[in-house]
Order: sequence, then C-alpha cells, then structure tokens
Amino acid sequence: MSFDGSQYWRNRNDGREDLTAVGQKSFGSAYNQIIYSRRLEVLDQLLSENFANLEHDRIADIGCGNGFYTRYFHEKGVKKYIGLDISESSINKLKQAFADFEFIKCDVTLEDFKFGEKFDVICFFDVLYHIVDDGRALQALTNISGMMENDSSRLIIFDQLASAEVRLTKHVVFRSRKRFQDMIDQAGLEVTKKRKLFIFLVPPVFGYTVIDFTIAGLYKILGFIIFKRSVVGKLFAKWIVKLDRALIKMDVIIPNHEAIILKKKNTDKI
Ligand SMILES: C[S@@+](CC[C@H](N)C(=O)[O-])C[C@H]1O[C@@H](n2cnc3c(N)ncnc32)[C@H](O)[C@@H]1O
Repeated sequence: MSFDGSQYWRNRNDGREDLTAVGQKSFGSAYNQIIYSRRLEVLDQLLSENFANLEHDRIADIGCGNGFYTRYFHEKGVKKYIGLDISESSINKLKQAFADFEFIKCDVTLEDFKFGEKFDVICFFDVLYHIVDDGRALQALTNISGMMENDSSRLIIFDQLASAEVRLTKHVVFRSRKRFQDMIDQAGLEVTKKRKLFIFLVPPVFGYTVIDFTIAGLYKILGFIIFKRSVVGKLFAKWIVKLDRALIKMDVIIPNHEAIILKKKNTDKI
C-alpha cells in the first residue's frame, strides 16, 4: 500500500503540541528548540537580505505545521499571511491562536489545487522531502509556481539533497540534486541562492545507503540518550550548533539541510 501522508500528519500533529510534532521526533523537545532557532537565524538573514518591507509583503506558508514560523511572521508585523496545511487540527489551532491571519486546510499536491492569489514570499519548510511520491512533489512545485509573480516572488524551501536518492523511512525521501533540479525545471523555477542550515545538528545524508543508515542509527542512539534529558539535550545541541556555524564558515562540504531560494524562470528566451 502506498504511503498516506494526510493520515500520517493527522496522527502526528494531533498528538503533540511541541516541536517534536513537526521536527526531529526522536531528539526530544529541547534539542528541537535549538534546531528551530538555527533555522530561524538563517531565515531571518535571508529575509532581511531580500525583502526590505517584509511587513507589507504577502506571505504564504505551505505546510505551516504547528505555526512556528507563523509566530515569527506575526512578531515581524506581517499584515498578509496565509498558512496552508493538510492537517485539519493544526489549521484549527492556528485559526484560534492568530485571528488576524488566514489558514486553509488543503493538500498542495492535488492537481485541482487552485489558488487565484499571488504571494511575494512562499515558505515551503521541511515539507518537500515528506512528499515521497515524485509525481505529487512535482505537482506541489507546479502549484506553488502558479502562486508566484513572474519576477518579484521568491520561494524558500528547506530541504536535504544528496548525491543519490535516500529513503530512510516511509515518510521521508532525500532526493538527489539531479532529481531536484529536474523537478524545479519542470515547475518553471530556478535557484537564486542557497544557504547551509546544518552540518551535524541533524543527521547528514550522503546518498550511500550503508553510510546513511549507519549515521541515522548513531543519531537514533543520541536520541535515546537525550530525549528525556532536556538540559543535556539543549547543552549538547548548543555546542553542535556552534561547531556547525564554524564549519559552515569554513565551507566544509558535508551534505545536510539547506535553505534554497527560488524564483520563476525567465521565460522570455523560450
Ligand atoms: C515536518 S512538518 C514542517 C512544518 C513546518 N513547516 C515547520 O517547519 O515547522 C511538515 C508539515 O507539512 C504538512 N504537509 C505534509 N504534506 C502536505 C501536503 N501534501 N499539503 C499540505 N501540507 C502538507 C504536514 O501536515 C506538516 O505540518
């Protein structure tokens, strides 16, 4: 039987209130707080470099989860924000918490996904690698491309790409760089900028099954140790994030999650 993403996310988002509902479940809440603060640090840098008037921009957050970034945009004074997610319970909770923002329960991978509006910034954070079917992932990117203005809109994706495709569990596929490039080409998108998020804070993925399963196993053991020991988990994560920042500065090449900024391809030449 094929993987039912909507059932998976309904079960997962219903049961938990903290970041383990949307983050790295096995690491526990304290470690996830550091993972998310690193993501926010990079997002904040990218947005301030690219969007001078964020509060007046139209923001769409696709797969908004339990609203970690909703809160960020709210605090930034954003006026027009829409959160989309396949999980009804997440959407209902966010509607109550952020009455001045709009939220819609929907599946971004559907062919009949129709969205008349355009957005300046579209966030697609840690969602693409959870859409494990390539056809549906391409449909999602095509749908998102339809929500973008020709020149000015930017799509920001947080994803992990490797030299070859890796499927470690049924709800995650880390695609090859080549497959990702083919997909964005077909969706009429192109990459304008990339920024590394992590080196070791979450498991790196190389695209070699034996190596990647071994690494995933080692991080699972780490998870067992820190899951309920929040002080140790937080201290450890803080130490690794410092190491990651230093290694990223030194341009160390270990494949891990990245922030990828895309725009619509210039079709004038075609
Ligand atoms: C790993 S969580 C990330 C949530 C949020 N972006 C974050 O970074 O905290 C993935 C989210 O994508 C949502 N999602 C998965 N498949 C989706 C789909 N086909 N359409 C819309 N949302 C989807 C899930 O319900 C879940 O909230």
